[in-house]
Amino acid sequence: MKTSGYSFFIKTLLLCMFVLLFNKCTQENKTVSEFPSIIPAPVSMLIGKGQFTITPQTQIAYPGENSEIRKIGEYLNELVNEYAGFYLSLIELDNAGANCISLQTGDFPDLGQEGYNLKSSKKGVQITAGQPNGLFYGIITLWQLFPTNQVENTLAIPAVEIMDKPRYKWRGAHLDVCRHFFSVEFVKKYIDILARHKLNMFHWHLTEDQGWRIEINKYPLLTEVGAWRDETVIGRPRRNTPVQFDGIRHGGFYTQDEIRDVIQYAANRYITVIPEIEMPGHAQAAIAAYPELGCTGEKVSVRTTWGISPYIYNVEDETFEFLENVLSEVIDLFPSQYIHIGGDEARKDQWEASKRIQQQIKDLGLQNEDELQSYFIKRIEKFINSKGKNLIGWDEILEGGLAPNATVMSWRGISGGIEAAREGHDVIMSPTTHCYFDYYQSQNREQEPLAIGGYLPVDTVYAFEPTPAELSEEETKHILGVQANVWTEYISTTEGVEYMLLPRLCALSEIAWSPKEIRDWEDFRARLNTQVKRYETMGWNYRPLDE
Ligand code: ACM
Repeated sequence: MKTSGYSFFIKTLLLCMFVLLFNKCTQENKTVSEFPSIIPAPVSMLIGKGQFTITPQTQIAYPGENSEIRKIGEYLNELVNEYAGFYLSLIELDNAGANCISLQTGDFPDLGQEGYNLKSSKKGVQITAGQPNGLFYGIITLWQLFPTNQVENTLAIPAVEIMDKPRYKWRGAHLDVCRHFFSVEFVKKYIDILARHKLNMFHWHLTEDQGWRIEINKYPLLTEVGAWRDETVIGRPRRNTPVQFDGIRHGGFYTQDEIRDVIQYAANRYITVIPEIEMPGHAQAAIAAYPELGCTGEKVSVRTTWGISPYIYNVEDETFEFLENVLSEVIDLFPSQYIHIGGDEARKDQWEASKRIQQQIKDLGLQNEDELQSYFIKRIEKFINSKGKNLIGWDEILEGGLAPNATVMSWRGISGGIEAAREGHDVIMSPTTHCYFDYYQSQNREQEPLAIGGYLPVDTVYAFEPTPAELSEEETKHILGVQANVWTEYISTTEGVEYMLLPRLCALSEIAWSPKEIRDWEDFRARLNTQVKRYETMGWNYRPLDE
């Protein structure tokens, strides 16, 4: 096509104006420090000229009839106060003038459930989204536009235009509160940390060999007995050396009121809480409370060492009745669509040794203990489905045949996830190799807190690709997302949890949220320098960055 001189002039003029107005943020040509450090990286960002300055006179505007959006405005106000030490007034959009941060939903089909647009200029900040979830993520991004060296009584926000939405719908982090118990106050702090990284799933690991942590009204001994162990093994005993114990009773549990409170707290941050109730293994604390649930009938204590307990539920109808009663209370408490039933590391020794169980295997027409585990999980899935909920299990639930509607959490590598996706099941990727935040963060172990083993530095987390290349396009749709796991055998303090979580959670959030094509380790690593300054402001502990 021939371009006329006039048209060429106009185009050139427009191009020059565009370049003057915006330095486009591309992955190739930026000097990172000149750009806002947003983690996870947004889908697209244009940097404008100038800035908007939040002062005590700035207002937050929301649609007057919408109490949910007002709540998001109140959360933004908390973020402003954290940084600047003052609160803004909230006003209805209809009354909004200049010097305003506006929050508004509208018809933005391209943004999906969780996406948002954020535009800041000299005049103000506008955040728009299809749903309130998106507005919430917009204000998390706005928080990351705050200066890390803030000048008293103002917050200068660079002029930007951002369009953003997440890659995966499952962006999770897990916390084991059984090996070591953590208070409601800390669980809320943990949820806050997830929210600041745009995660949306908190997987709460509530039952274990070493402690049962959720109040169940029908079975009070689960917490009277099962929530407490007499003592805890010290350190990581070596082979052929005597095991030493601290002699200190350890435990605790959450009342149902506390759990409701945590669920609401998380919901206000657009995080769903997924409860995990372990079966058929990891059941020693429950069997300590109610020995008739076990296979040996012997009286056993809540476990005081780590490793995998041989105590496993039997398969009597009464035991299923117990589990269904427990799950009924859990389902009544947790609005989540998913209930996690564990299913991992179920040692079958006691099933093998029990004449009664061997007879039941024959009577049920099953071949072996793996098939019995599959029978167990399928029976529980039927119950969970009958309540309108979906079951998630660790990848061992593939053994002996997967329950028909189960979602698989792939932790022993990604092969279980691949197999499940090929069978048409949904999958969450959480392999030890990239997602186990109980692993060491340095090869120089002496300089790190004692950990379970392994080596998982932040760049290895960042290198993880949750969607395996070998899956077909159709199978790929079953990869719901990715999750980090924080097991706490060797983490007994809240500072310890934060140290193991941060900054690795940044890498997890970026692989969960940002488009694969814009991921760039060097760029991310530079943004981490700013992110840890935010951790300093928040008073969150973190592992120092390597040079
Ligand atoms: C697991 O780490 N046992 C799921």
